[in-house]
Amino acid sequence: MAWGSAPGKLILFGEHAVVFGEPALATAIDLRTEVYARPHEEWLADGASLEAPKYRYVRAAVGRTWTGGPLRFEIRSMIPSGGGLGSSAAVTVATLAALRALGRVEVVPGDVAKEAFAVEHEVQGRASPIDTSTSAHGGGLLVLRERRDQFLWSVERDRRRWFLHDATLPRMSLVVGNTGISAATGPLVARVKDLVDRDPKAAAAVREIGTITGLALAAFRDDDLGAVGALMSRNHRLLQTLGVGHPMLDRLVGAVAPVAYGAKMTGAGGGGSIVALTDRPNEAAAAITAAGGRAFLVEPARGHGVEGHE
Ligand code: PMV
Repeated sequence: MAWGSAPGKLILFGEHAVVFGEPALATAIDLRTEVYARPHEEWLADGASLEAPKYRYVRAAVGRTWTGGPLRFEIRSMIPSGGGLGSSAAVTVATLAALRALGRVEVVPGDVAKEAFAVEHEVQGRASPIDTSTSAHGGGLLVLRERRDQFLWSVERDRRRWFLHDATLPRMSLVVGNTGISAATGPLVARVKDLVDRDPKAAAAVREIGTITGLALAAFRDDDLGAVGALMSRNHRLLQTLGVGHPMLDRLVGAVAPVAYGAKMTGAGGGGSIVALTDRPNEAAAAITAAGGRAFLVEPARGHGVEGHE
């Protein structure tokens, strides 16, 4: 039997804009998905057919990398799905790691990240490599248009090229507020593309989000969490302009405002989750719960990316 494990992620700055080549910053979190795989007489996942729609990432990972016989998978995930926390990237990366371990192929994070991006693209359509690369690498991850210090690997698609870098983030408390409303990433990304193609204001919002990510990096470097929080709030408003907001996201952002440096939606939006930067995590969690959300305290999980063993 083989085992693969990969973390979920939070996008701190730059979601959606990263699909257009703007910079973005994400961190892995201490919620993980584990995938167990073993040879079996028929294809199964959690005792049921692998054909069920929820196993499409596992199926695509198998289709791209596995040449052996049928397998039986068991999948255990601590990451809520459809919550903007990278559950599909984590299951993809963990499956690829388990398949490598089973085939005695070394689990190399950069190689797994590239395969995982191809899987995500196949299943979901237009995407950036931010989720899959953060899950494979672990810790902080910065996506840039060009290669700089702390370069990890690059990913190319349709004449776009993203350069992935390790990002050193300070210790900080992040509180996630899940709206309980799940929205598929693919259609949201497609809708933003339509809007950007026809509305110059949307195109300007995408560029401004890129600028904000750069400013946030500098603020993190200066340990100026107040400045980071203000940039999060600005990033949230720009995402609303791109049409990926939801009243419940605004409600949760408003609820944590008195006890946080700042907060914003995280991931594709349309529902999903917010992330708040705070030094009062328990109060922030209580505010989210009182506003009707589900709160989690997360620790950016440095250095704990994909793993796989036989
Ligand atoms: O699937 P989510 O909610 O983690 O969002 C992914 C981030 C996007 O920028 C919206 C899409 C992408 O592939 O970068």
